Amino acid sequence: MAKLIYSAIASLDGYVEDEQGNFDWAAPDEEVHRFVNELERPIGTYLYGRRMYETMLYWETVSTNGERSEASRDFAELWRAAEKVVYSRTLQTVSSAKTRIEREFDPDAIRRLKESSRSDITIGGAELAGHALTEGLVDECHLVLGPILVGAGKRALPANVQAQLELLGERRFRSGVVHLHYRVRAASV
Ligand SMILES: NC(=O)c1ccc[n+]([C@@H]2O[C@H](COP(=O)([O-])OP(=O)(O)OC[C@H]3O[C@@H](n4cnc5c(N)ncnc54)[C@H](OP(=O)(O)O)[C@@H]3O)[C@@H](O)[C@H]2O)c1
Repeated sequence: MAKLIYSAIASLDGYVEDEQGNFDWAAPDEEVHRFVNELERPIGTYLYGRRMYETMLYWETVSTNGERSEASRDFAELWRAAEKVVYSRTLQTVSSAKTRIEREFDPDAIRRLKESSRSDITIGGAELAGHALTEGLVDECHLVLGPILVGAGKRALPANVQAQLELLGERRFRSGVVHLHYRVRAASV
């Protein structure tokens, strides 16, 4: 059975965007980007909230010629190769290949997808992943925490979920970023 994995780059105080909606402080440097690419490489399907999808669409058309960093070019190719599902009640059309829209987040459909998928599945952004955590669907979390406090904004993790976590791995980067990899043992609202 495939795993459902929530990955987020967040501030140390746990926000994926600050109160003004900025997340430029979360942009990975080359070392972190290479690491993130290795997390993404085995993934077959990305489940996106509409807001995260609109951010990630950048990778559909960005140039992959030599003027970009190697990690950026690699990530663009990984992104284009994966299947994408966008959850939205408002989006009329998608602007990327291999992409379909779902109007409702149906936990049973996700369970079926996990059972039938050969490759692991990721989920983002934070609002959509919060639904999946609440429903006990998330098997693992990768939190990439930057050395910054932004004080307020959009939480990476939902406020109303309690869960037991098992630390599977950790890594530190030259920039001060820390990666934490957890298995979610059991979640409850
Ligand atoms: N820290 C980082 O590295 C980083 C990277 C990229 C982006 N970001 C930030 O993170 C944001 C994305 O996270 P987010 O939490 O704001 O939003 P999100 O989870 O990506 O998207 C929320 C949207 O998903 C749809 N949705 C949510 N629940 C649904 C449901 N049950 N059924 C159907 N559709 C549902 C709705 O779209 P509709 O409104 O269309 O119905 C909702 O407005 C981006 O906008 C960006 O600011 C941060």
